[in-house]
Order: sequence, then C-alpha cells, then structure tokens
Amino acid sequence: MVSLGYYEILILLGVIWFLFLSFWGTVDGLPRNWPLFGMLPGLLLHARWIHDRSTDVLGRAGGTFLIKGPWFADMDMLGTVDPANVHYIMSANFSNFPKGPKFMKIFDLLGDGIFNSDGDLWRNQRRFARLQIGHQRFHRCLVKTSQDKVEKGLIPILEHVSKQGLVVDLQDLFQRFTFDTTCFLVTGYDPCCLSPQLPDVPFSKAMDEAEEAIFHRHIVPESIWKLQRWLGIGQEKKLSKACETLDSIIGKYITMKRDELSRGIQLEEQEEGVDLLTSYLKEDEMMEGLKCDDKFLRDTILNFMIAGRDTTSSALTWFIWLVSTHPIVEAKIREELKEAIPTREANKWRLFSVEEVGKLVYLHSALCESLRLYPSVPFQHKEPLQPDILPSGHRVHPKMKVFFSLYAMGRMKFIWGEDCFEFKPERWISERGTIKHEPSYKFLAFNAGPRTCLGKEVAFTQMKTVVAAIIHNYHVEVVKGHHVAPNVSIILYMKHGLMVRVTKRWF
Ligand code: HEM
Repeated sequence: MVSLGYYEILILLGVIWFLFLSFWGTVDGLPRNWPLFGMLPGLLLHARWIHDRSTDVLGRAGGTFLIKGPWFADMDMLGTVDPANVHYIMSANFSNFPKGPKFMKIFDLLGDGIFNSDGDLWRNQRRFARLQIGHQRFHRCLVKTSQDKVEKGLIPILEHVSKQGLVVDLQDLFQRFTFDTTCFLVTGYDPCCLSPQLPDVPFSKAMDEAEEAIFHRHIVPESIWKLQRWLGIGQEKKLSKACETLDSIIGKYITMKRDELSRGIQLEEQEEGVDLLTSYLKEDEMMEGLKCDDKFLRDTILNFMIAGRDTTSSALTWFIWLVSTHPIVEAKIREELKEAIPTREANKWRLFSVEEVGKLVYLHSALCESLRLYPSVPFQHKEPLQPDILPSGHRVHPKMKVFFSLYAMGRMKFIWGEDCFEFKPERWISERGTIKHEPSYKFLAFNAGPRTCLGKEVAFTQMKTVVAAIIHNYHVEVVKGHHVAPNVSIILYMKHGLMVRVTKRWF
C-alpha cells in the first residue's frame, strides 16, 4: 500500500479543491458561467448558504457582480452592495427603478398593495398610509397593544417555562407576539396566537407557506414556476391553498368590521386608539385616487400583516440571541434599563412602559447593530425602466434585475471596517453619547429613499417593549448544541428556531 506524506496529502487536497472550484466555481472564488445554464448551477448548489455566499462573492468582486442566468431565461442579475449604487437606485434616480413587472408577478399574492405597486397607485397608498400610521390615535393603539401583549401574552408563557425548566422556541413566541399585535393594529382583532396552548393559527401558517413559495419563485426560472402553477404541483400548489386561506380570513375581518361600524360599535377612541382598518373605513372620502372596496382592503391588510409580523419577529429573535451570547452587551443594556427607573424598583421584577424605553441610547444602538448583521429583509431587487449606468460603472438594462443583498451589505469591510463581523453596539454611539446617524443607503435594513419603511417607529416601539421585559427580568440561555443558522427565504429567520431556557432574575 502506498503511504502518503504530509506534503503529498496537502498537494492532493489542493488538486481536489482546484477541481471542485473549476467545476462549481472559478479559482478566484467567483461563480462559474456555464454554457447554456449560466451561473444557475452554482446558484442552486449554494442556495442553502445563499447569504454567506453572496457576502463572499460580492466582497471578492469589490461590491458589484453580474450573475449570468441561463440562456434565453432573462435571469441576468446585477448584485450590488455598493452604497453609491444603492443611493443612485433608491433615491437619486428612483423613477428609473420601479419594483417593476417581474416583482409584481412574483409577489402577485400581495395584489395591488403598497409593497407591490409602483407609480400613482403606490404614491397614493403611501400618502394615506403614512397619514394613518403617524396619527396619535394609531400611536395610542400601538402603545396599548404592545404593553398589553407583553404583560398578558408573553410574560405568562415565560413564567410558566421558567418555573417548569422547559425549553422554549423564542422565535415561535416572537412570531406569535408580532402576529397578534400586527393583526390587532391592522384589523382591530386579536387572533390570540400567543397563548399558553400555543395554538395552530391557519392565518399565520398560510403566511409562512406563501412566503416560502414566493422565495422559490426567486430561484427558479419563471417558466418553471408558471408550469408548476398550471399543473397545481409543488410550492405553487401550497401557494394557491395559502392564498385561499388568507382571502377567506381577511374577508371575514372586513365583513365583521363593516358590520360593527354600521352598528355604531367602536373602540374607545380616546384611550385605546384606533386600528388601521377602522381608520381606512371611516376616512375613505380622504383617499385621493384610491377606491376603498373589499379588494383594496384585502390587499392593504395582507401587505401590512407581512410588513409588520415577520420583520419585527425576525429582528427580535436575532437580537435576543446576540445579546444572550454577548454578556458584556447584556450587562450594559441591564445597566441602562436600571438607570431609566426609580432606584427602589431597579432590583426587582418589572415591566417597562413605551415611554421609559423610548429614549435609551445603548438599547437603540444594540437593536440597530443587530439589524445591520441580521436584516429582517435580507435582499431586495429592482428593474430599470431605461438602460442606465450605475455609479460603479456597471451597465443595467430593462431585462435585468438589480439585486441588493442587505445581509452582505452589513458585512462589508469597505463599508463598516475590519470589525464588520463583530456585534458592537458602540459603533452606533457618537462621541457626545447620542445615536450616530448612518445614512440609509449604508444601513439599508429599513430601506432607503421614497420607499423607506413606514413602520420603523412602530417596530422600534414593539421591540424595545419586548426586549426590556425579557432582559431585565430573565436570564436567557441558548440550549447547548442548538444550531443557529439563517434560513433561506424572503425573511431572515433562524432555520431551526431559537431554542432556549429562561430563568427568572428576581424572586
Ligand atoms: C424590524 C422591523 C422592520 C423592518 C426591518 C422593516 C423593513 C422594511 C423594508 C426593507 C422595506 C422595503 C421592502 C420593499 O420595498 O420590498 C419596508 C417597507 C415597508 N414597511 Fe417595514 N420593516 C419593519 C417593520 C414594519 C412595520 C412594523 C410596519 C407597519 C406597521 C412596516 C411597514 C412597512 C411598509 C408599509 C412598507 C412599504 C413602504 C413602501 O413601499 O412605500 N414595516 N420595511
């Protein structure tokens, strides 16, 4: 038998690695462009690690890289994390980069809602939605819903699992929390998904399945998913079932609300605030250029549900994981929370009001830092209306998608420095001790330009109320051996959930 020495083994490994790279990639680590299939084989091979692969490829390519799709499939995509390109596309030349017809086809489930429209239809919806979300009566509804759900929904479950020493999936709890609160904020009805029995909620399950199918549409050619839809198989079958469930439940909410309003039943406006569906129905005469029929309301409710539920719960999950694995950050947050309340209350069980947590600089910085590394929406894409040249010098044309990886953007040394992979809330604090403003085309988690997220303040209010309650009152420990990894979907969740044990800090 031939025995190999250390150097022979190294050379052999080198040859195998070279062959592997020349088969699936190229020697410089960039995807290989195959005749006929373009870079699709490499894309599919790496689909499970798409976020890290995008970070690697875009980093190696200097921030922008052209992904060649299969011949005749119109799947060429320009991937970029270059802040100058992002600024150009999102703000400076916004009118040449609508979401475009391809986006609308992929997200057809969202109908003509705010996420899925361009031009006047989008502009009119945005104007009206902004007015409603910014209104005091909606803010009152947000404050009440967030505080109540923490106290009556989240805490009883945490108390139960901590007493029994049970393992709990925090990601599941957060999804339930934001599902209930968003549903209440948007429709005025609470599905009570966050209750000790952890019930299955068809509305929530249908949203999960729809998102998975929509992601699938991003990675297979349009002709394939259209064929699957026509045949009623695979992900497309799931999507059409999910769509039926969503239509039916949302339809019921609309009928119930119209009925309540016609019978004069309303929330106590002054104290409790008002949900969006009620505001939309009561102020429909103010909706310039929009028709407030059932189809419009269905699309609006679904768009807001997707906007609010998943993004906020994903952000909460990654944040609690980062904090529980960074004890120094955890200690600093606890210290700041203590300073925000009277001394006599500092070392005992306590919930925090929205007001108390609203202005905390370190907590805010830690949330931004977590969103930099784990943006809830990990990628976005746009289509140019006219051929254009980006600031990086790359040419784009109408048959091509421009793709931003928000996940990769937060991990670029040329944007955030050598320590870009580290969780360091301090990078968000100025020398004067205030929050350092980072331009949105660099920190893209809430989008940039005219389509900036309308719910940023809503999200921060909810997140701060939840994390203050958890961090001040409990010790969270990730179960030993639990594998934390991002999933591959349109929302950045943890693939295996976040399995933890919680213990009380005060008795
Ligand atoms: C941590 C939480 C959140 C994050 C990271 C986030 C992020 C984003 C991003 C990246 C977009 C752009 C999406 C696209 O154009 O494809 C967006 C848009 C939007 N977000 Fe948020 N969002 C969050 C929470 C919320 C909440 C709670 C609401 C509502 C109550 C909301 C309402 C919206 C709306 C209405 C848009 C569409 C804006 C437009 O197209 O004009 N978001 N958000």
